[in-house]
Amino acid sequence: MINIEQAKSEFKKYLQQFQASDSHIQLKIDHTFRVIAVSKTIAESLGLSEEEVNLAQLIALLHDIGRFKQISQFQTCIDEKSMDHAEYGADILFQDKKKIRLFIDSHEYDTIIEKAVRNHSKFSLPKGLTKKEDQQAKIIRDADKLDNLYLKQFQNIDDIFKGSGQKELFTSQITPKVYEDFCQEKCIMVTDRKTPADFWVCILAFIFDLNFAISYQMVKENNYINHIIDRLTFKHKQTAEQIEEIRKIANDYLERKIKEVSR
Ligand SMILES: [Fe+2]
Repeated sequence: MINIEQAKSEFKKYLQQFQASDSHIQLKIDHTFRVIAVSKTIAESLGLSEEEVNLAQLIALLHDIGRFKQISQFQTCIDEKSMDHAEYGADILFQDKKKIRLFIDSHEYDTIIEKAVRNHSKFSLPKGLTKKEDQQAKIIRDADKLDNLYLKQFQNIDDIFKGSGQKELFTSQITPKVYEDFCQEKCIMVTDRKTPADFWVCILAFIFDLNFAISYQMVKENNYINHIIDRLTFKHKQTAEQIEEIRKIANDYLERKIKEVSR
């Protein structure tokens, strides 16, 4: 049996060692609790059992547990500059002191939870997952991306583009490989991102790695694509034109996926 309320209270105890006054820590706590709500919505939309809906919420509660040590040690959420927070989170839960037992008594779901946490921020899921592992791994990946899209509508622009000045941001161009990948409805590899505009395109490309009907519907109904695109006006003529093409590709893709999955 999964007791999600008890797990939440254990999670809050775990967080006491970190500085709540650190705005990055608070951002990640808020993110975690919104992702729980989105995971619940997705799991319920799939008609899962109450236990499976609770499992999806438990995975969401724990998915970013590695973030808090990452932030307090490295003062950054950028994995490439610090550590793989997803792998680290899975290690906290399942290696050494096996913190997972604080959050759930039963061993029954350990493999599902570990694989979902470990793989939640990978470019793609590994092969060979069981049906249940695959389903829960996809729920957390969708919920995490949906919250990232939600946040990009109003997250402070200077915070998002730390290190690149306003001038560089607005004159920025999209790297050809990034634009080509987007046009082919592909997610953008972190290593291919070179410019601030690439980063913005990468966020929008999250829609190409969504898995469930309700996820596409949430992006459409909340108008995330248009809201995010409308936040920035790129001054470079080609970038501005490409961004409009990207808007069209993204909105067409959502329409098509919503039709496909509702068939
Ligand atoms: Fe994460």
